[in-house]
Amino acid sequence: MAAKAEKQALNWSELGFQYHKTDFRFRAVHENGKWSAGELIKDPLIAVHEGAPSLHYAQQCFEGMKAQTAVDGRVMLFRPDLNSERMNLAAGRLLMPEVPQAMFLEAVEQTVRANYAWIPPYGSGASLYIRPMLIGIGENLGLKPAKQYEFRVFVSPVGPYYKGTGLAVIALAVSGMDRAAPNGTGSFKVGANYAGGLLATKAAQQLGANEALYLDAAEHRYVDEAGSANIIFALRDGSLITPRSNAILPSITRRSIMILAKDQLGLKTEERAIDLRKEFVTFAEAAACGTAAVLSPVGRIWFDDAWHIINGDGKQVGPTMQQLYDLLVGIQRGERPDPYGWTHSVKL
Ligand SMILES: Cc1ncc(COP(=O)(O)O)c(C=O)c1O
Repeated sequence: MAAKAEKQALNWSELGFQYHKTDFRFRAVHENGKWSAGELIKDPLIAVHEGAPSLHYAQQCFEGMKAQTAVDGRVMLFRPDLNSERMNLAAGRLLMPEVPQAMFLEAVEQTVRANYAWIPPYGSGASLYIRPMLIGIGENLGLKPAKQYEFRVFVSPVGPYYKGTGLAVIALAVSGMDRAAPNGTGSFKVGANYAGGLLATKAAQQLGANEALYLDAAEHRYVDEAGSANIIFALRDGSLITPRSNAILPSITRRSIMILAKDQLGLKTEERAIDLRKEFVTFAEAAACGTAAVLSPVGRIWFDDAWHIINGDGKQVGPTMQQLYDLLVGIQRGERPDPYGWTHSVKL
């Protein structure tokens, strides 16, 4: 595949977080116990049987990653091995075949390379979002696993997930609806966790929030996560905490931030249950974090029928979140050394 085509004439810095059709996507099919070699194709449509378990019973999972143009022109992925690992955990949970890590990484690299023209340039604030997905496509009326699966990777150039540039301060509203049960599928990136959240997000937005914030489903006491991001809190005592819960997605961004906080900023870090109402007064700063959200400071949280403000007037970016954002994004864009080997250059 010829790489390095001329860049598309897009207004990169104006992009929102929306689907933008690109030229190529990768597709492989699993049948009779084995994967096809896989290939790049042009058609963005997927033909599946009307009886496909992905359509009826949500036998499907996906991943979300980004490729970014580094300051020196390299195109970099961030910890793609962890996306592969997480997809295979979801596959195991939903009785789908694993996608071998080598195939996953090769598919991601091929798709990014083939769509070089769509990778936002360095400094634009935009990136190439990558969506690997695994779906049950074979006909199957009864509630049992599919007989065939498609693994697909498509990409789309995207801007910030939340409106605003750089570090947009967001608002969250605690939802009365639950996202995931304590021993359910909340820790897997499966579509079934998200459909039920659409109404919760709508309700949160009607209150003026960007997203819903979920508390634990058993007691509605402890912070779980937001609709599409994990949560971190910087406490007044200088430590950084994040929820420990079986029901949240193990965010790759969060895992990285917790390491940066400890190693680079010397903060005391802890993953533990966080009682929102009881501990709110101890929060100096809060943020949502994820591939799409990057690190978005949270200025206010709606719960018990009122807005609760964090960090002054709820519009400021606090010093801890600013430092963590700079460290994370600096590594992802190749502006800072990467002592952890987290970045992965795509061969162009
Ligand atoms: C529900 C949910 N939590 C957390 C995250 C963040 O995970 P990651 O940092 O691996 O992107 C995501 C996806 O971005 C998500 O959909």
